Amino acid sequence: MSELKKRPVILDGDPGHDDAMAWMLAKASPELDILAVTSAAGNQTIEKTTYNARRVCALLGIEAPIAMGRPGPLLTDPITAGNIHGQTGLDGPKLPEPSRPLAPMGAVELMAQTLRESPEPVTLIVTGPETNAAALLLAHPELKPKIAQISVMGGGIGYGNWTPAAEFNILVDPEAAQIVFSSGIPLMMSGLDVTEQALIFPEDFNRIRAVGNQVAGVVADWLEFFFKFHRDIGYDGAPVHDAVAVAALLHPEIFTIREMYVGIETAGEYCRGTTVGDPLGRLGRAPNARCVLGLDRERFVDLMVDAVRTYDGWEVRV
Ligand code: RIB
Ligand code: CA
Repeated sequence: MSELKKRPVILDGDPGHDDAMAWMLAKASPELDILAVTSAAGNQTIEKTTYNARRVCALLGIEAPIAMGRPGPLLTDPITAGNIHGQTGLDGPKLPEPSRPLAPMGAVELMAQTLRESPEPVTLIVTGPETNAAALLLAHPELKPKIAQISVMGGGIGYGNWTPAAEFNILVDPEAAQIVFSSGIPLMMSGLDVTEQALIFPEDFNRIRAVGNQVAGVVADWLEFFFKFHRDIGYDGAPVHDAVAVAALLHPEIFTIREMYVGIETAGEYCRGTTVGDPLGRLGRAPNARCVLGLDRERFVDLMVDAVRTYDGWEVRV
């Protein structure tokens, strides 16, 4: 039987509990070939998210090169989310120390090198502010044909979470998002519309922990920590936002996806960072994004349980 053809991907994120769970899902999939990992400034400072990226890769056995992303948004000062992810950006369970050195170049150059060297176009999975992806497109426009698709967790057609109108990843760097959303590259947007339905409940934490391997225990601990903030503001479960950007690539059949034009608002006292969706085509502009709007939650949780199960027999020194 012919070897399953793997989809080459680059993971770019700001771990971040849900980024880490997204990367766990990606590494567990036999369909994805992780060519590179790049850190973004977002949930915490770039130094902290880079250290977290290296520790998550050590935990999961991701052996791709890891590069540090840009220190902050293209034009503005960084915004961080220590109130949600903690002072380290990945508070909770003890993690292994990095097992590999950081790549000698920055994220944009590692992305560019990876695209140049890949025999086929690469999918970018962006689960933090889109700063690195935008910087790549600005610095290396000639490499756009080597990007197959960009799957982002970001935005919300209906509402925001960091402001009433804007979701965190987009709000941190709206100019970057505007560059990505206007690039013409096939784009899948998993915004709050779907990611706040991607709830993992405490009983699901126990299902994951019961798998019984090291990664299952760490993921359950990440969920417990990540749920604390959300429980205190009225959620019944942990919205694992970033994992949707991976799951929707792997199993689009469990999601509701709708093509539409999405504009990024970069001005406005109340609306900076808003992803303005145009499902009715009022603007007369061609769709630029496949927006993920809904999901079968139980099948999403099953995906997470099945993914941690693939780490049976894998153990790293912590
Ligand atoms: O708004 C949710 C997003 O912001 C997620 O990617 C989370 O990790 C934070 O980056
Ligand atoms: Ca993130």
